[in-house]
Amino acid sequence: MSRYGFLILFILIGTWSCRTEKSDEKQEGISEELSDEMDNRKLKRVKEGEILGLASELGAEIAEKSQRVLGGNLKKAMSENGAAYAVEFCNANAYSILDSLRDRYKVEIKRASLKVRNPDDDPTDLERQILEAYQYNIESGIELQDNIQRVGTDQLLFSRPIVIKDGICLSCHGNPGSEINPATQERIKELYPADNATGHEFGQLRGMWSITFDKGELVKML
Ligand code: HEC
Repeated sequence: MSRYGFLILFILIGTWSCRTEKSDEKQEGISEELSDEMDNRKLKRVKEGEILGLASELGAEIAEKSQRVLGGNLKKAMSENGAAYAVEFCNANAYSILDSLRDRYKVEIKRASLKVRNPDDDPTDLERQILEAYQYNIESGIELQDNIQRVGTDQLLFSRPIVIKDGICLSCHGNPGSEINPATQERIKELYPADNATGHEFGQLRGMWSITFDKGELVKML
């Protein structure tokens, strides 16, 4: 396993093991002050576990909903007017439902990729590490999973891998000329001159949903 794979496993194990801590009785022979301090720390850890749990749950819900909205509209546009017309429908910023999710949960919703079409989807350093771990895992036949990471002290990043599981994706992310028709390729080049999101195959990693939570907002929802 790569060091990233290890890193992610470690962090996951580290965070989830916090949830099993129980606040137990004060031990004999320990001063009250120290004992209170220990209780506070336990409380903090339990809270941290709850915050992580909520971020995982909401992250999964938001990613699922965003994917459903985007995928549904993309398919509809493709079947009604073809790929060249539908080019503008694979955009996470084009849907008001995603904006209302952003407002409701005070989250940032984006997709990141190692081979972007839209430069706005370029990964941050942390996103790149997660994407590289996903890439390593997919190449090694390890099942890809949702992930949660701390970003500084105030934020949490939920990620969900996006794998090409539908042949429809190749109409715009496959091979130009064979899978991507000339009219579509032309439209893509026009809108995204620096496009790097072609040449994909079925079953490959395309990117990930990246949902950033503010811990303070999560605490309010607990
Ligand atoms: C009709 C053309 C079209 C189809 C079909 C299509 N995409 Fe896209 N895809 C695009 C365009 C255009 C962008 C850039 C959108 C933007 O500006 O945010 C994009 C961007 C993305 C991104 C964000 C990363 C990046 O490269 O900027 C992901 C992830 C993605 N597509 C996944 C998929 C998947 C998975 C499928 C199949 C379910 C799919 N796409 C089908 C045209 C398409």
